[in-house]
Amino acid sequence: MSKVAIITGGGSGLGQATAVRLAEEGVNISVVDISEEGGNRTVDMVKDKGADAIFIKADVSKNEDVKNYVDKTVSHFGTIDYFFNNAGISGSGKYFLDSDIDEIEKIVGINLLGALYGVRHVAEVMKKQGSGAIVNTASSAGVIGQDSVVTYSATKHGIIGLTKSMVAEYAKDGLRVNAIAPGPTETEMVRNFYKDNPEMKENAESGIPQKRLGTPEEVAELVTFLLTSKAEYINGEVIRIDGGFTNVK
Ligand SMILES: NC(=O)c1ccc[n+]([C@@H]2O[C@H](COP(=O)([O-])OP(=O)(O)OC[C@H]3O[C@@H](n4cnc5c(N)ncnc54)[C@H](O)[C@@H]3O)[C@@H](O)[C@H]2O)c1
Repeated sequence: MSKVAIITGGGSGLGQATAVRLAEEGVNISVVDISEEGGNRTVDMVKDKGADAIFIKADVSKNEDVKNYVDKTVSHFGTIDYFFNNAGISGSGKYFLDSDIDEIEKIVGINLLGALYGVRHVAEVMKKQGSGAIVNTASSAGVIGQDSVVTYSATKHGIIGLTKSMVAEYAKDGLRVNAIAPGPTETEMVRNFYKDNPEMKENAESGIPQKRLGTPEEVAELVTFLLTSKAEYINGEVIRIDGGFTNVK
């Protein structure tokens, strides 16, 4: 039987690259995104690899949308083996005291509440099955403090708490929950962020020991490893994939 994955933020960047990589392993995918255009493009890319895929439109900051993408996946594919809990936004890059409350609430709503709702509903299905693997997307900003991203950093530190504490409660039920902490990686999110804050791109590249940004394909490889049985005894980990960035900061 083919395995089934839900990928949030599957319409672009890390989510899209992971959908394609998992499809190469024969995994069927529920592509969840707020963008129909991006989500449908990923569905086509997965099908080109010979796996099955459906697009489910959702705003992950809304609990009813999250419940809906979980229910639709189970009714369509019958199971959820893997969950890449990945949708997120970066914010404007303003210093914290210059950010308005709407922006703070939006980032927390998508990055942290969205991730919590996702795990809440997906883990319920996985616990009943007695198995399942989850990868939550944190960030370098989830393991170290950084300027210009205070709210974002708070949400990504939260993702790591979610990851470790889920293991404390549900590893005994067959769940594995890990997090990835990518450094700056060449995706739409980062291109837009650096377009608005060009000096930060130079700072980022010069601060990375490998002197380049990561690629979505490199991250997809790590996520695929963590989700599949090759990583069967890895649980509650936060794996940094950042060219050495947070090791020398
Ligand atoms: N690119 C990086 O450098 C980097 C580094 C560390 C962590 N991350 C994290 O990786 C994850 C993916 O980011 P990316 O770089 O691939 O960005 P991206 O912008 O390329 O992709 C993010 C996707 O999430 C979707 N999305 C945004 N808001 C949504 C919502 N409310 N509901 C559903 N979908 C929504 C977007 O439509 C988009 O398709 C994010 O959580 C981000 O914080 C990215």
